[in-house]
Amino acid sequence: MLEHNVSLRPYHTFGIEVKARLFARFQSVDELRALLALPEVQQAEQLILGSGSNLLFTKDFDGVVLKNEIRGLEIISQDEDTALVRAGAGESWHGMVQYALDQDLSGIENLSLIPGTVGAAPLQNIGAYGAELKDTFEELEALETATGRLRTFSMEECGFGYRESVFKGPLKNQYIVTSVVLRLHRRAQPNVSYGAIQTTLQDLGIEGDPTPRHVSEAVVHIRRSKLPDPAEIGNAGSFFKNPEVSQHKFDELKAQYPEVPGYPVPGGVKVPAAWLIEQSGWKGHRRGPHGVHDRQALVLVNHGGAQGQDIRDLAYEIIASVREKFGIELHPEVNIM
Ligand code: EPU
Repeated sequence: MLEHNVSLRPYHTFGIEVKARLFARFQSVDELRALLALPEVQQAEQLILGSGSNLLFTKDFDGVVLKNEIRGLEIISQDEDTALVRAGAGESWHGMVQYALDQDLSGIENLSLIPGTVGAAPLQNIGAYGAELKDTFEELEALETATGRLRTFSMEECGFGYRESVFKGPLKNQYIVTSVVLRLHRRAQPNVSYGAIQTTLQDLGIEGDPTPRHVSEAVVHIRRSKLPDPAEIGNAGSFFKNPEVSQHKFDELKAQYPEVPGYPVPGGVKVPAAWLIEQSGWKGHRRGPHGVHDRQALVLVNHGGAQGQDIRDLAYEIIASVREKFGIELHPEVNIM
């Protein structure tokens, strides 16, 4: 089951040509335990892969890539208002969204079409269009690599923040998510707080109270119009997080750039990194096979044949130029390997 020198190009969305020294897939907790018991695997650096939609490889990976293919989608219980849905970590995230819509359950329709797997969703508390994973999260199960034991994590134990969780912080590389349970609503509670959803619903001719499926359609429409499809142009979604600045810093910015967008958050203001990058002149910038997407400045793209190091170098140049122009530090959201 262990393969050697495997091209990772088909297994991540940036489409970079790199190899893993060792590669294996697992479809159950038992298969995962069996892999982790192999001396070759124990001695190697381990990388757990879902669908590789938040990764930039800058070189060959001199360790073992373990691809999570644990499947399964089921309603495990329900009460009058909510249903608990469990999904195997290797299910596609959008597959779970569609399953929920098919079961008339709402709560994750705003997260339609986010690339990636269910198991990767909690690692960075995925979010879009006014919703986050943590809004519906109930619990997850994860295997501790050191002991092979399964542990259940509650919402509190996951330590969710903006694109953050304990699995990216203190517990990094210690657990492998095997399944996730969400608490979804049996009575539709569409969230159309995000302005673009409302205007898109109008553009799509949807009047009156939108259903969760309508909201999903609107989100799919917005994503398709702004974000590059990884099947066509290599990318990993937002490359940077949106930085948070103090109110004082924001007031200074506003004085100089009255049109600067910003969203209040506890302790300051969140400024869209896409705006800072666009103002710094990078939107649509192209350097041979790689560059900055022309419809969303937060997304770095591989038009075909780019090297991971070149994309990383471009990212650092963008960080330096935003720092120079605005005195604001951008941080990558994508895992750079
Ligand atoms: N903007 C620009 N130039 C651009 C794009 C956007 O100036 O090229 C400005 C506009 O003012 C716009 C604002 O940025 O109003 C916000 O843009 P958008 O709604 O596209 O969202 P974002 O803040 O750039 C975040 C997430 C996305 C998510 C969208 C929608 C992060 C790092 N990114 O982007 O998530 O889809 O909101 O909710 O928080 C991802 O994580 O991979 C991702 C795509």
